[in-house]
Amino acid sequence: MSKKILIQALQGERTDRVPFWYMRQAGRYLPEYNRIRSQMTFMELTRNVSAAVEVSQQPYLRFGMDGLIMFSDILTPLSGAGIPLHFAEKKGPVLEKVIRSNEDLAALQEFEATRDTPYVADILQKLRQFCDAEGPALIGFGGAPFTLASYLIEGGSTRSFDECKRMLFGQADLYRTLALRLTEISINYLSMQIQAGAEVIQIFDSWGGVLSVEHYQKFAAPYSQKIIEKLKEKYPKIPVILFVGNAAHLTAALSSSGAAALSLDWRVPAAEIRQIPPGIALQGNLDPLVLYGSQTTVQQETRSTLTRFENRPGYVFNLGHGIHPATPIENVETMVRTVRDYKLNHS
Ligand code: CP3
Repeated sequence: MSKKILIQALQGERTDRVPFWYMRQAGRYLPEYNRIRSQMTFMELTRNVSAAVEVSQQPYLRFGMDGLIMFSDILTPLSGAGIPLHFAEKKGPVLEKVIRSNEDLAALQEFEATRDTPYVADILQKLRQFCDAEGPALIGFGGAPFTLASYLIEGGSTRSFDECKRMLFGQADLYRTLALRLTEISINYLSMQIQAGAEVIQIFDSWGGVLSVEHYQKFAAPYSQKIIEKLKEKYPKIPVILFVGNAAHLTAALSSSGAAALSLDWRVPAAEIRQIPPGIALQGNLDPLVLYGSQTTVQQETRSTLTRFENRPGYVFNLGHGIHPATPIENVETMVRTVRDYKLNHS
């Protein structure tokens, strides 16, 4: 089998057309997702192998992306490590234990992915067969230690990061211990995903952008870098993509992460993008809320994103963050058509 186009781009090679996939491509904007989701809770869906496989395939069957991301959540390994959690309507994840002291750390149990989240390997094995028959590359993923720690410290989503920053600045040793545990958990979890068939790994540091450059370097970068380094050493052929949300001020820091590719959000200015060394593949970066606009706007904005990255050797079209549940499907179709029809100028 020839190399899949998504992998070519992520390894920095020029491609004949621009490959694409979308963060949160499986989800509530799809009626076929909602139909399955109405029969079980979110956490049940992540553990139900046949349902999770079906939900992962749904966006591909509609839009034919070049990447198929497994359906799960960045919090899945935490549930496997002894932190019960559920998703509350309109509120997001609720963790039933929080970590704010040395004693609390005991809640985070020893984690062995093949024992504690075997269903993730089963989902990936089934999806890999589908991907090899159909063509897309299989994407596995996990959360970066800083973002995972923020959920454990806050007990769920937060706007202010009060408790998280209270720990960074008041109990830095405790934070370091927690982040190191999460680094080990992530290496183990992502290695299992690769062994089960993931061909690409994306690390989500969704909240890294709430830190200054200096604090990002101190509290977030060392841990995601360690994961990337370890995966590269164990699985040199697997490209790792690093996504950091709201990170326009962090492009220089991200350029030294060791990741094969960076996933950029829409706030990164073109001048910053040009500063990223050419050996790093790029992915992004349309504002997902552009998809609330008219078809003409979607088409224009998609084209302008494609043009911005046209001269990069390894480029993957994506959104700058996940698709929102209220996104009209026709607009996703327009975006997909625009990417497919786009003619690259190089030959
Ligand atoms: O299609 C895909 O991208 C794969 C599936 C995927 C989900 N979550 C499914 C999901 C992936 C890659 C994630 C990652 C994830 N989860 C991140 C990183 C990406 C990002 O958005 O920054 C984060 C921060 C989480 C944590 C999380 N999960 C939150 C904050 C929420 C609630 C917010 C919301 O959208 O409701 C979730 C729930 C979640 N994860 C849903 C889906 C489809 C919606 C839940 C539902 O069906 O009720």
